[in-house]
Amino acid sequence: MKRWIKIAAIATAGLAAAAAATLALGSVAADSKMQRKVHVDVRPIALLQDAASVQRGRYLFNSRGCTECHGADGAGREFINDGKGMVVHAPNITTGPGGVVAAYRAEDWVRTIRHGVKPDGRPAFIMPSEDYARMTDEDLTALVAYVRQMPGVTGRGADMQVPALVKALYAFGLVQDAAEKIDHAMPPPAPVPEDVSLAHGAYVANMCIGCHGAHLSGGRIPGAPPEWPAAANLTPGEGSAMKAYANAAQFQQMLRTGKRPDGSTVSTVMPFASLKELNEVDAQALYLYLANVAPRPAGQR
Ligand code: HEC
Ligand code: HEC
Repeated sequence: MKRWIKIAAIATAGLAAAAAATLALGSVAADSKMQRKVHVDVRPIALLQDAASVQRGRYLFNSRGCTECHGADGAGREFINDGKGMVVHAPNITTGPGGVVAAYRAEDWVRTIRHGVKPDGRPAFIMPSEDYARMTDEDLTALVAYVRQMPGVTGRGADMQVPALVKALYAFGLVQDAAEKIDHAMPPPAPVPEDVSLAHGAYVANMCIGCHGAHLSGGRIPGAPPEWPAAANLTPGEGSAMKAYANAAQFQQMLRTGKRPDGSTVSTVMPFASLKELNEVDAQALYLYLANVAPRPAGQR
């Protein structure tokens, strides 16, 4: 072998070994990061059972994404399986066999949903609690009222197989869990009237930030499987996806059908099973808000 080829081969092998070592270290560090305890001061909510709370809670459960991962019956489902080793199954959140909430107290519901921290103090890894951290006490109370009255069904706990690369990115802070992203000291927002207003639109848009970014300008979703497309820019800035929607009706049509006005299909990474449930007022307020949010170029998260 020519000398330089040999050197190159040794260097390449060295780099590969270094990369493998980094991944292995990252994996170990990620496991300990997932086991860390996160302390949050939790403001408990009332556990209600009245019909109005349950009805509002059903709407929130169906329209805010919970069903995508936990299923309409709460039994939990596999919502990521990219065929290349990334598999994520959300847990059963009913009191049936295999459920994880049987011993939940009021503060546990708040800690998990609003703070992304499980009752034992460990962070939820995948659940996008940053989307729910700004829920009003009233809505959180209603959501919990609905979930608690769901009939117990059989399911199982969470199951997560995550590629070493994603784990390494998590260990080194490039992929964050919800508990890291949430400002735990932030008081819950005061309720705003449910009407077609900027304030209400901003409230509904909270459920889009996990994927579209805190500033809604989109970009690659950290930690997502590589074949997922980048989330679109929802602001009026450069590369805005909202240009395709001339009015709120067209926008709601896309949320309901998964199709753009030109008939093409939006990626099903978008949680259409939930988005199609958004009522007229929520969808119209969202459209109004997105037209007025601070413009940013695409991909600035
Ligand atoms: C993108 C998928 C996803 C969405 C959306 C989602 N969850 Fe989860 N949820 C999970 C996963 C995965 C876990 C397991 C914990 C983790 O992330 O490590 C979980 C855990 C939970 C737990 C149990 C935590 C424990 O182990 O004690 C509850 C309760 C829960 N989710 C409720 C909800 C509710 C209510 C909603 C809607 C407001 C929701 N989730 C939305 C994926 C999701
Ligand atoms: C689970 C992640 C996820 C969530 C939650 C999510 N989106 Fe998306 N969204 C995406 C991805 C990924 C794309 C890019 C789809 C594509 O390129 O086909 C997208 C694209 C879009 C588009 C562009 C559609 C087009 O014409 O190309 C709009 C508008 C949009 N999302 C609005 C929203 C709104 C509003 C919310 C919250 C109510 C939301 N999304 C929640 C992942 C998400």
